[in-house]
Amino acid sequence: MSISNNQQWLLYLCCLIALYACTKDNATCTNANINIQVQVNQSHPCNRTGSIKIISPLGPSYQYKLNELPYQERSNFDSLSVGDYHITVKDNHGCTNSKKISIDTVKPNATFIATQQVLNSYCTPCHIGSNGSGGFDVTHVCTVLNLWHRIEARAILGIPTPMPRTGLIPVSERNKIIHWINNGHQY
Ligand code: HEC
Repeated sequence: MSISNNQQWLLYLCCLIALYACTKDNATCTNANINIQVQVNQSHPCNRTGSIKIISPLGPSYQYKLNELPYQERSNFDSLSVGDYHITVKDNHGCTNSKKISIDTVKPNATFIATQQVLNSYCTPCHIGSNGSGGFDVTHVCTVLNLWHRIEARAILGIPTPMPRTGLIPVSERNKIIHWINNGHQY
């Protein structure tokens, strides 16, 4: 079935109107119209505890998008790990603006910093890099956090044998690790 001349003209007309509407809308889009303001929560180095909360612009005429994910009505993005993100905001004319947001690592607590210093001075060079002795790399934060009970067993209790093998490290240094463990072995 072929379309009549009238239908064809109607089609052209529709296209022209659509094109005009599009260009008209785009002409009014300037990035300055959408001024993105956010509040950022940093993340734990091993868990996704970061978040980006858009504080402006808000309201039903805006939609929000994280990286290449689909647009959403919600202006909060949760469970984000450390890294760089792109937030895009779109208004109801289809105008958009983007902003690059970085999520950093939260600051470690003092007992973890002290423990890290002990491990770095007494457990390297045996425990450094991906093929560190016993598969244990003391420079890798998440490994230290996950293996706290093995650190306790070997470097504090000396079970089944002490670490380092030549004998436990000085009491004052062990106390720093004990303090961190008793504090909940947190980052
Ligand atoms: C001179 C080298 C050397 C030093 C220094 C050393 N280690 Fe080890 N470590 C080893 C070797 C070799 C192994 C693997 C054999 C074993 O488990 O005994 C190992 C294994 C381990 C393991 C994994 C095995 C397990 O029991 O889960 C942990 C955890 C560990 N060491 C903790 C430590 C800590 C903490 C320190 C510092 C206080 C330390 N080591 C210092 C050589 C060393």
